[in-house]
Amino acid sequence: MTRKFLFRPLYLLIFPTIMAFTVSVDHARAAEVPPYLNPHMPEDTRVRDLLSRMTLDEKIGQMAQADSGAVADPADVQKYALGAMLSGGNSKPLENNPAAWLKMVNEYQSWALKTRLKIPLLYGIDAVHGHNDVVGTVIFPHNIGQGATRDAALLEKAEHITALEMAGTGIRWSFAPCLAVAQDERWGRTYESFGQAPELVSAMAAAAVKGFQGTQLSDRPDSILACAKHFVGDGGTLNGLDEGDTVCDEATLRKLFLPPYRAAIRAGVESIMVSYSSWNGDKMHGNKHLLTGVLKQELGFKGFLVSDDAGIDQLSPDYKVAVESAINAGLDMAMIPRGPGQPNSYVVFIQDLKDLVAEGNVKPTRINDAVSRILRVKFEMGLFEHPYTGDPALAAAIGSPAHRQVARQCVRESLVLLKNERHTLPLSKKIKHLVVVGEAADDLGIQCGGWTVDWQSRPGEVTTGGTTILAAIRHAVSPETQVTYSPGANGITNADAVIAVVGELPYAEWHGDAASLGLDPGDAALVEQAKSSGAPVTTILLSGRPLILGPALDNSDAFIAAWLPGTEGQGVADVLFGDYKPTGKLPREWPRSMDQAAANDMTGEPLFPFGFGLTF
Ligand code: GLC
Repeated sequence: MTRKFLFRPLYLLIFPTIMAFTVSVDHARAAEVPPYLNPHMPEDTRVRDLLSRMTLDEKIGQMAQADSGAVADPADVQKYALGAMLSGGNSKPLENNPAAWLKMVNEYQSWALKTRLKIPLLYGIDAVHGHNDVVGTVIFPHNIGQGATRDAALLEKAEHITALEMAGTGIRWSFAPCLAVAQDERWGRTYESFGQAPELVSAMAAAAVKGFQGTQLSDRPDSILACAKHFVGDGGTLNGLDEGDTVCDEATLRKLFLPPYRAAIRAGVESIMVSYSSWNGDKMHGNKHLLTGVLKQELGFKGFLVSDDAGIDQLSPDYKVAVESAINAGLDMAMIPRGPGQPNSYVVFIQDLKDLVAEGNVKPTRINDAVSRILRVKFEMGLFEHPYTGDPALAAAIGSPAHRQVARQCVRESLVLLKNERHTLPLSKKIKHLVVVGEAADDLGIQCGGWTVDWQSRPGEVTTGGTTILAAIRHAVSPETQVTYSPGANGITNADAVIAVVGELPYAEWHGDAASLGLDPGDAALVEQAKSSGAPVTTILLSGRPLILGPALDNSDAFIAAWLPGTEGQGVADVLFGDYKPTGKLPREWPRSMDQAAANDMTGEPLFPFGFGLTF
């Protein structure tokens, strides 16, 4: 008792001294770490602090996003203090595998961290139906198929898997979801649209943003910055011309094309890409009323606006004038596909913008607003604390069976049964002799469509890991079943049933713009040939949009619109053999004729109305 009593005064004296010393050291240490590097500081404080430390060069560098294909020397990331990079449709590491992607992205990041203020790089890619540029990933149905599922919860899961597979390669920004409300099937990007109705696209928009970012953008490695695109009216251009002109009054623009952006902003989207298209003849990239007035002020969008690839260039033949117009309209970051020595390169963009500020044509407040928006996103993503990702567990899960199962469910739910006479479907797994015809039946490239490994993709083997419809059929039937594959439908004899797989060859963007939407004559002949066998014919159409079917529909006893299902062809077999009853609903009207398609307002009854879909 006495001893303890005796020591009490001493203890009381020493303890506070120790505490005071510790606190003073912590304060000193805290004083050494600038607020912007302190993750416990509020984001706004960090933004203000960092902005106050930045030179104009460093600020403008943050507004430049360079395509990796244009960055010949990675040291340019440091030299120009580039804020972002991307892998455009065809820019990829020499070896296309997840490890090579991770190494490439982390190397560029290492150069960004050599800059004076060590501001980390944001790396973006078009992960528009899975992490589709990387070989070995799961490729999901394109958005038109996801729209046909009407299953927003499933889409959220699909986009979260895409986020996980992206995180496995160190990339944390996806130029998705596309929120086009496509009105004219002649548009080559119709398949990137969830459908023709704003309500449908809005529901899918919110789900996709949450799938990528989570309930909010965060520092989790699998919280991927989503990018709602292409603002606004990209899917409403005259005659479906890609990058064309959307001609309508503001009320129609707001009614048809704005709702998905409201939904995406409500879901927390933190980047939005501007459309190449025009509204009533004015290029969107220079439209201050819509970019600043509507999007940032009226809708309260707090993230940043990125241009489309070289989107600024389309504003004027004089690049400096184009830069002035776009930045003053409210663009925050320029996506630039060209490097030093080329016209309108990221070097030219930086110099032109510096000159515009010096000349008073772009205000410092506009620069500060743009850079603040970009920095806030980087702080929210925890990039300053975790500039490198590459969790081996995430990389190991790329293309995993669990991921493929979710994609298979998307495929099942995306199929729309347009016709099923004489109970042709479901087929029996014990059918004796099944004949499968059509090149498309055994072609992953056609099955996945554009934006698969390469921008335009191509027929044939485009990814490792995937199941063609033919392979899925072979796997689904009983050992006693004979499956004959005849790509050209030659000499079909003694068939108990024929499955004809037809469709479009892969395309992306304007390469898919079409004046005519007729089914390929070779495909029509194939279905006719199948019909002549006398066996029941099920036709499966792989396409990015409704096509004018002509006699092919009459020559089919059953007909499935399968859109562009991706790598998991088993989802098609699941419906063919009744393991899954079709639930898909048309995300857009199906025109009866080209006149009707071109009229774009369905004069007369469409062949199949919006929302149509049979089941067993
Ligand atoms: C393309 C597309 C856009 C894509 C971007 C980057 O031109 O319009 O959707 O995200 O360039 O690849």
